[in-house]
Amino acid sequence: MSECLICKTKFSPFTSFGKMPLGNGFLAPEQFEKEYFFDMDVAFCETCKMFQLTQQPDQEQMFHENYAFFSGTSVFMAKHFQEFAEGVIKKYLPEDPFVVELGSNDGIMLKNFAEKGIRHLGIEPSKNVAEVARKKGIECITEFFNEDLAQQIVKEKGQADAFLAANVMCHIPYLHSVVKGIATLLKPTGIVMFEDPYLGDVFQKTSYDQIYDEHTFLFSATSIQYLFGMHGMELVDVLPQATHGGSMRYVLSHKGARDISGAVKKQLAHEKELKLDQKETYLEFKDNCEQSRSKLVDLLKDLKAKGKRVVGYGATSKSTTILNYCGIGPDLIEFISDTTPIKQGKFAPGSHIPVKPYDEFKNNYPDYAVLFAWNHAKEIMAKEQDFVKSGGKWILFVPDVEVLE
Ligand code: SAH
Ligand code: TYD
Repeated sequence: MSECLICKTKFSPFTSFGKMPLGNGFLAPEQFEKEYFFDMDVAFCETCKMFQLTQQPDQEQMFHENYAFFSGTSVFMAKHFQEFAEGVIKKYLPEDPFVVELGSNDGIMLKNFAEKGIRHLGIEPSKNVAEVARKKGIECITEFFNEDLAQQIVKEKGQADAFLAANVMCHIPYLHSVVKGIATLLKPTGIVMFEDPYLGDVFQKTSYDQIYDEHTFLFSATSIQYLFGMHGMELVDVLPQATHGGSMRYVLSHKGARDISGAVKKQLAHEKELKLDQKETYLEFKDNCEQSRSKLVDLLKDLKAKGKRVVGYGATSKSTTILNYCGIGPDLIEFISDTTPIKQGKFAPGSHIPVKPYDEFKNNYPDYAVLFAWNHAKEIMAKEQDFVKSGGKWILFVPDVEVLE
């Protein structure tokens, strides 16, 4: 038995993805022997409707001075955050505003405020990525956000007009401290906007690779409303996003501070239609994951038997779940190509498939490439037309396992 991290209801996991290493734990051969693994068991709370991991590595093990994920590797994401920032400035910021961002990474979002001279603060515990942001003139502190830090920021810099976060709220197990911190930090008229991969998309697409160590939670409008409601805040708008294979942007304020958009009620009703609050949906998802795994493994084994060369494209943290859950190793995938220098020359967590620079792909196209960075498919396929012209084929596994003909 485990306990819900949000409402403390006792529950048991509805499925397990088995032993998992760190999603971003790219490593050298001398580290193989002592590689860290945890049981990636997943539970759904029938009281507060929160989808969550029941165990996780410590946050310092995941976010540190050698963090491997740099937001700026995608041009599309840079544009997405530029639009996000412009929307905030236009719609919500008063005169002489103060903007705080959680998990600001290399400054992909805050850059758009800093360039306009807007007072801002990034909170980013991973020192190496924060350093990249500082070099762009972005102010950030290398700390993990919680209630105490929020009080300290208020003392030193005052309250914020906007509190922003992308792909980080779902990373933090101690969400009550975070939400209390947000309530403390936010001006009475302030706005909170954050986005994360959306549970509804994960179920609809069987994109189970969104489940990995860093993703403690997969949110829905229902679970977010419950959580913030416990701390005197409320959901005032929801905006679906195409990023990361389907995300949701949640807009929140102190209770009663703003009008509530009709989209909130609609989304909550839609989630009931999707049966996101019912156990049968979770069991169906479990079956879908198992079927997806069999199909992918069968396809890769078949290609190997035919003597085809298969590589991976994008050493995503998501791919750690696919490779370990499916038991795919260097026997089935020769290497994974990735543009992030810190990942290159290392090996993928658990599966120990080599990660190589992009040129290794470009200069010697394989017969097939498994698109692990499927959430960037539009951007990648647009620039990899030569691969297809040379006879190369993409393998996708979301929403279905298929070879793109
Ligand atoms: N916002 C960026 C980065 C997402 S990756 C984007 O959407 O691309 C998540 C980031 O959150 C990492 O850089 C990680 O170091 C940071 N992070 C993790 N836990 C945190 C916490 N408790 N407080 C603040 N940042 C955190
Ligand atoms: P991403 O899917 O954004 O995140 P996560 O690690 O959270 O699953 O990661 C994309 C990875 O793919 C990142 O390591 C950079 C790499 N990448 C490429 O190699 N080429 C590309 O053109 C793009 C867009 C990404």
